Amino acid sequence: MTDTGLVPEGVEADRPSVARLYDYFLGGHHNFAADRELARRLLQAEPHARYIVAENRAFLGRAVRFLLDAGIRQFLDLGSGIPTQENVHEIAQRGDPAARVAYVDNDPVAVAHSRQILSDNLLATAIKADLRQPDAVLSHPDVTALIDFSQPVGLLMVTVLHFVPDSDDPVGVVRRFASRLAPGSFLIISHATDEAAPGAAAQVKDLYKSTTAAAHTRSGAEIMRFFDGFDMVEPGLVYLPLWRPDGGLPEHPERAWFYAGAGRKPAQAG
Ligand SMILES: C[S@@+](CC[C@H](N)C(=O)[O-])C[C@H]1O[C@@H](n2cnc3c(N)ncnc32)[C@H](O)[C@@H]1O
Repeated sequence: MTDTGLVPEGVEADRPSVARLYDYFLGGHHNFAADRELARRLLQAEPHARYIVAENRAFLGRAVRFLLDAGIRQFLDLGSGIPTQENVHEIAQRGDPAARVAYVDNDPVAVAHSRQILSDNLLATAIKADLRQPDAVLSHPDVTALIDFSQPVGLLMVTVLHFVPDSDDPVGVVRRFASRLAPGSFLIISHATDEAAPGAAAQVKDLYKSTTAAAHTRSGAEIMRFFDGFDMVEPGLVYLPLWRPDGGLPEHPERAWFYAGAGRKPAQAG
């Protein structure tokens, strides 16, 4: 049982879920015994796991605030996860109560809890869908009811693309979403790499094979391909803590071995 007792249909409680593992590392309570057991083994392989996840979440918050400052008022969050503190709609609607957010996840626990906390929020929604089917997401009535694709959008793919194997063409998936975005839209990505801690990354990948989605680390050059057609925002693709920090810098930013970056879709040439 999760501590909250909400067990939606389609949940495989015996198989660790990438959404529930992430919730566990963030200190959440929407996870099962199988998740906690794998988390214990992951912490042995990578003692910085909680630090990495916290840095990722901090990056997400900075990115949403950056987007607000850039004038973005609608957000499409793919692989949005189980709600925790400082969710995208909370940050966005604190900046502008009229900001609109569509959350997309393929994990039933993530979607059920998202819907629960959004039940009285008319400007945010959560749908259960797989980002590997961009057209199904882009044409979903709950998404099109909130997101006006003729206006700039903040497209968030934060700590999710490394769950998409090359065989599912993640570059093509991102390109399909990008093709629907108006000029002035932004693409925000964080993604695991094995460039900083190859030993730990190999062990983590091995352990993730037993979860709902195996992990696929990529090099910085491979991650940059997701931004084809976008102008990179300063400081480019960097380790999580180095992306537009709003406080002091850690001595070893590479310990948070996920790359983070933002790109802006330019006006069409000609
Ligand atoms: C590590 S969590 C990240 C949550 C949030 N984006 C963040 O960074 O705080 C990754 C989420 O992506 C979801 N996910 C993985 N593969 C997906 C797919 N193909 N389509 C939709 N969601 C997916 C998982 O269920 C999980 O909730």
